Amino acid sequence: MRRLSIRNLQVSLVTGIIAAMVIMQTASVAVQQPATDATMIERSKILSQPGVFGVFTMFKLKPEWNKVPATERMDSAAEVAKLIEKHKDNVLVDLYLTRGLETNSDFFFRINAYDLAKAQTFMREFRSTTIGKNADISDTLVGVTKPLNYITKDKSPDLNAGLSSATYIGDAPRYVIVIPVKKSAEWWNLTFEQRLKEMETHTVPTLPYLVNVKRKLYHSTGLDDIDFITYFETNDLIAFNNLLISLASVPENKYHVRWGNPTTLGTILSPENVIKALSE
Ligand code: HEM
Repeated sequence: MRRLSIRNLQVSLVTGIIAAMVIMQTASVAVQQPATDATMIERSKILSQPGVFGVFTMFKLKPEWNKVPATERMDSAAEVAKLIEKHKDNVLVDLYLTRGLETNSDFFFRINAYDLAKAQTFMREFRSTTIGKNADISDTLVGVTKPLNYITKDKSPDLNAGLSSATYIGDAPRYVIVIPVKKSAEWWNLTFEQRLKEMETHTVPTLPYLVNVKRKLYHSTGLDDIDFITYFETNDLIAFNNLLISLASVPENKYHVRWGNPTTLGTILSPENVIKALSE
């Protein structure tokens, strides 16, 4: 009996040691692995990946903003910079200045996030900052990036090659343009082959503009009342105007039930400089 219980004790000791080793190993693996959410936001990566949410929030300052003491208004830049720093592992924040160019907004955010709820948290906390409390939202757009549907290597090899071979040249873009787009039920009821043909006709005249226009597409169907958020950066607004004229005359345009409305034009500045410009 006694020998048996010692053996039992030995067995349970060995089992205990093995269990402890397994737990320690698992724990060290967990420590070595970066947390899925932490330190994951890299600008060039998040801006080129599919499955990334984009939240665009346009703000108009309230008249009360001008009554906030000048020093407090100037401190807002640091307050917003601190908020961006706090959320830098969860969201990529871009801020643009529209005051002087738009009626319904003074500035707008573009938040890119792998997890939409993280973008929501950032925007919620922004509303508690001094400038956030003194601004009204004039528009919000939500979308998500996806792989190409039509102009892929398989379905449209020549245009796909044209897309990937052209690059933006010239000075860093100073202007941003956001154009929401909604297409008709008739569009969505075309066959895939018909839509492919239309999108090829869309792509042909646009390729020459890749040297002066940077573009990004977010899909919004079901997430918002529009189908797409189109986002552009350019230094050449005349080229951009010509690009839009050439797209206005392709047959795809007949399927647009919304093209802009609003189109939002702003300047590209650091978040700090946007708030400083609004604090003057
Ligand atoms: C440099 C200029 C541009 C280029 C190279 C370009 C190219 C393309 C390409 C290749 C696609 C197809 C994506 C796919 O295969 O899924 C596309 C889609 C789209 N483009 Fe453009 N585009 C440009 C400018 C514009 C402009 C100015 C607008 C209008 C505001 C626009 C609106 C759209 C929309 C809404 C889609 C999605 C259409 C759909 O999936 O039904 N694009 N573009």
